[in-house]
Amino acid sequence: MKDQFDREITYLRVSVTDLCNLRCRYCMPEGVCRKRHEEILSFEEIVEIVAAAAALGIYKIRITGGEPLVRRGCVELCRMIASVPGIREVDMTTNGILLKDCAHALKDAGVSRVNISLDTRDEDKYRDITGGGRLQDALAGIEAAFDAGLTPVKVNTVLIGGFNDGEIADFVEWTRETPVELRFIELMPMGGAFGQEAYLPAETVLEKVPALEPVQEEGGVARLYRLPGGKGRVGLISPLSRHFCGTCNRLRLTSEGKLKPCLHSAQEIDVRGRHGAELLEALRQAIGNKPRMHDTLDADHPSQAGRAMNRIGG
Ligand code: 5AD
Ligand code: SF4
Repeated sequence: MKDQFDREITYLRVSVTDLCNLRCRYCMPEGVCRKRHEEILSFEEIVEIVAAAAALGIYKIRITGGEPLVRRGCVELCRMIASVPGIREVDMTTNGILLKDCAHALKDAGVSRVNISLDTRDEDKYRDITGGGRLQDALAGIEAAFDAGLTPVKVNTVLIGGFNDGEIADFVEWTRETPVELRFIELMPMGGAFGQEAYLPAETVLEKVPALEPVQEEGGVARLYRLPGGKGRVGLISPLSRHFCGTCNRLRLTSEGKLKPCLHSAQEIDVRGRHGAELLEALRQAIGNKPRMHDTLDADHPSQAGRAMNRIGG
């Protein structure tokens, strides 16, 4: 279904939990409160919503969190979603910590590929930014994703000035021999621990690594580059310096059953408890209400999302 600005909405991001086994400083508020089980959509409820979305032309689903793999039975949920008629692709965004033990099961359940978050390749810095995570676990998760054929494996790196700008060239070098798609994401002002002083425009990557050459292929929200002869690719995702609202094709569903037409708007439509025609109508309303674009995002104009990132799913 098209929204009022002629954008075909084909993609639903489904957050299956707010919980996470990490505490990334730009993402998690201190002391996330654990939701009671009843507050979270059941698998059956999620599948019902996905089926209604599919009836309106949505064919791609991304499972997010929090960290989706901390929700018990996540693999089964993926299988249920992948078998909804009309759903052609199920992907996942994960921090990779638990992936080592379930990558093959996810592939078998019908997941096509995964995006893994990795903001540094230094063990101490990883522990610091994630509030105690172990770099080896994340790297083992990336390995497992390749091994299971959850490819192309994409790695998300949020650019944080004063934290990982010194690693940009190293990160890019990784793509020379590894067929990974490394995506540098501009830090969005979502109320996390880093302020505007840490914001780096994605262009910084091209300044640090002038050898990168543009790749013509379609990269979704990312502009794609590669090292000459490199096996992997480098994507730049610039929600601030050049926002991509004009081609936005997505809706979001929170773990408690609120549809969010736009990441940066506080507008939410509660679909919990709605069924049949009423559920379809709520989805139509969410698509119909997608704003044309979000306002400028910077220190003086933080995101109006009204939720921390772990409660939206990125
Ligand atoms: N700015 C940019 N990206 C963010 N993410 C979480 N918070 C932010 C933020 N403030 C990213 C994570 C993950 C994805 C789900 O969203 O690093 O890769
Ligand atoms: Fe967890 Fe992802 Fe947030 Fe890090 S960015 S705390 S891994 S949800």
